[in-house]
Amino acid sequence: MLNNSKTVIELRHVGKCYSGTNSSVLNDVSFSIKKNEFITLLGPSGSGKSTLLHIMGLLDIPTKGNIFINNQRISDIDDDQKTKLRLKKLGFVYQYHHLLQEFSAVENIMLPQLILGKNKKIAREKSEYLLSKLGLAEKINAMPSELSGGQKQRVAIARAIANDPEILLADEPTGNLDHETAMLVFEDLIKAARFNQMVAVIATHNEELSEKTDRTYYISEGYLIEKK
Ligand SMILES: Nc1ncnc2c1ncn2[C@@H]1O[C@H](COP(=O)(O)OP(=O)(O)O)[C@@H](O)[C@H]1O
Ligand SMILES: [Mg+2]
Repeated sequence: MLNNSKTVIELRHVGKCYSGTNSSVLNDVSFSIKKNEFITLLGPSGSGKSTLLHIMGLLDIPTKGNIFINNQRISDIDDDQKTKLRLKKLGFVYQYHHLLQEFSAVENIMLPQLILGKNKKIAREKSEYLLSKLGLAEKINAMPSELSGGQKQRVAIARAIANDPEILLADEPTGNLDHETAMLVFEDLIKAARFNQMVAVIATHNEELSEKTDRTYYISEGYLIEKK
């Protein structure tokens, strides 16, 4: 598919070696993702998927190489700017939902919006809208303990996209779900990312899920190999 859209995130020759270890998790990773693109990262446990997502999510810094978000080189900006960028432009979904148990579904989704200074009423409306889009209109006021695994993960997806990030990073988002629920939640994740025209990068070891995305990369020996 011809894609003339702008590049949203780019990695150039990124390497990562954790301090105290002498082997590199990532050796030389270069790739770029354009608006609307949806990528899967495949690789066995320990291959470096989370490491790569943390670096892309500005939660960790590479040992070498550069990351660019909207053509801005990340090593050129300070920690405050990085935090702002993370709040505004990046959304995260993890294997475990990390919902706050003492808050309802809708409140969990409102929180990141309130942190960004959004008005409470607007934040609530947006949260309710996202929940209904994800098939949870009936569960707006439910507490996390009253939701199934798949429902909790949908709330976590809604929370990740509540501030309309440009980039959605998901680290084995369906890893704790049974096969059927995993497929459904994955479809929802794709839908959510598409209707907000996001870039999405999803780490998984489920090859079947990867068939639903635009491109798939394997991580092997610290390098990224595109699946043809
Ligand atoms: N904070 C850390 N310090 C040292 N080694 C780490 C750290 N985080 C991950 N690693 C190592 O890096 C490798 C890749 O881990 P990870 O990125 O979590 O892989 P994956 O997500 O594909 O399972 C593993 O060998 C892991 O032990
Ligand atoms: Mg991992």
